Amino acid sequence: MNQTAAASSAVSAALAALEAHRLEIGHRRVADLFAEDPDRAGRFQARLDDLVFDFSRHGITDTTLAHLLALLRAAHFEARRDALMRGEAVNLTEKRAAMHMALRDFTGGPVLVEGRDVTADVQAERAKMLVFAAQVRDGALRGATGERFTDVVNIGIGGSDLGPAMAARALSPFRGDGPRTHFVSNVDGADIADSLAGLDLARTLFIVSSKTFTTQETMANAQTARARVAARLGEKAVGEHFAAVSTRLDLVAQFGVKPDRVFGFWDWVGGRYSIWSSIGLALAIAIGPKNYDDFLRGAGDVDAHFREAPPEENIPVLMALLGIWRRNVWGDATHAVIPYDQRLARFPAYLQQLDMESNGKSVTRDGAPVDMATAPVIWGEPGTNGQHAFFQMLHQGTDVVPVDFLVAAEPIAADARHHDLLFTNCLAQSEALMRGRTLEEAHAMLRAQGLDEAEAARLAPHKVFPGNRPSSTLLYRRLDPRTLGRLIALYEHKVFVQSVVWDINPFDQWGVELGKELCGKLAPAASDPHAPLDGLDPATAALLAARRRLSAG
Ligand code: F6P
Repeated sequence: MNQTAAASSAVSAALAALEAHRLEIGHRRVADLFAEDPDRAGRFQARLDDLVFDFSRHGITDTTLAHLLALLRAAHFEARRDALMRGEAVNLTEKRAAMHMALRDFTGGPVLVEGRDVTADVQAERAKMLVFAAQVRDGALRGATGERFTDVVNIGIGGSDLGPAMAARALSPFRGDGPRTHFVSNVDGADIADSLAGLDLARTLFIVSSKTFTTQETMANAQTARARVAARLGEKAVGEHFAAVSTRLDLVAQFGVKPDRVFGFWDWVGGRYSIWSSIGLALAIAIGPKNYDDFLRGAGDVDAHFREAPPEENIPVLMALLGIWRRNVWGDATHAVIPYDQRLARFPAYLQQLDMESNGKSVTRDGAPVDMATAPVIWGEPGTNGQHAFFQMLHQGTDVVPVDFLVAAEPIAADARHHDLLFTNCLAQSEALMRGRTLEEAHAMLRAQGLDEAEAARLAPHKVFPGNRPSSTLLYRRLDPRTLGRLIALYEHKVFVQSVVWDINPFDQWGVELGKELCGKLAPAASDPHAPLDGLDPATAALLAARRRLSAG
């Protein structure tokens, strides 16, 4: 048996042991586990400075954790983590490293990527980017008419949009008197039209962010923005109103961005991990270099924790193992992330790319079918809004959805009384999910409310909550740059740990290719109403024909 096959049979054995363990403890109620063990809340908790990860409301015991840790060992987790952190070419299909951690390493190096120390390159590119960000903020850099930039529009999609867009919103109190930031991503022309409505182009800076500088949506939006600037301010003004972030410096030059406004990064930084690179330019402009530096350092703290903390105290490892427990042992198909933090409204969307583009795979690293479920559907919306929408299903639906609650101890630039309400809502929801309400309790409650026996019996089943629904809570002091950096990095490493157990490559994304290819082939049929439709897929041809009829009418 080769090493991979041996690991895979050890993982299968560890999963089988977990399955047997579930049959033993699956009927236990978490509320009873708390009653039996007064220390449970403290024991099923891990900390990283002020950040608390509470996982006591999962239906687990010490034995469950021991089984999960055995699974981790069976997957040779430590060797795989060390290979990642040493900058080895762990992205096997694309033959490169995934060393985004180098971008938030402040140890002074060396930081190796495939054997080469990248410290000096990283520091130089970051310094150049932060000088530019500072000059935009303080007005040293101005538009073609000599006016300060009051608005910055980032044009990008996927990892070249979600990170800076999510983070700029999360950290809006840190903007100070810097420019407003806007994010255009969708090829739907409505996106750029609505984003530019009301902006004065003379005071607007565009950043074209694209690792490959070939992405259809970004190039279409960039060309539209370029044409708008040229029409309003003249062709010569384009150079004053555009900057770019890319690994393809040749293509950026062709677009017409001035060389000193082009910020690079490297192919060992995956798109969904690129917020730490120059792709963070819009964020750095939004919050300023010092705050941006704190953001990177927060992520760096998590890297050190991930590398050094023992697995049973290692927050991303615990997050990953609890996810495996729910996905692979209990079969939960989805996982909700509910920030009780309005400014984290785009965090679930950010995590969708991070998690599902990384681990939404069906083959192992060596191309064999994966014999267990991989990435769950990640979804979520901020609380308390979700409580008035989908929480009904979380509490009483037929499917169990594990939840991550995220909440700050203190507000920033928000009313403290509101924050008390926000915080208690968060706690109440996780408690309700765990505790539930039995038929007897529902019945007794209704009788106590004065309902007669028949009416109480009729209504009681509708008021039953099954309870025992798992959740974790991530509590942090405040949503500041350092904390946001930490939150993102925790989820990044969680996703990596799960990929190790599933033995998949989390760093490629071939699943996005087929649709792109087909779209390229269909473009002529969409833009020319007389182009022949024969030879196309019948459903596609019928819909194109229907669109032609509708557009003609
Ligand atoms: O379509 C998927 C993807 O390749 C993502 O992985 C990436 O974040 C996004 O497109 C944008 O790519 P680029 O930065 O090259 O424009």
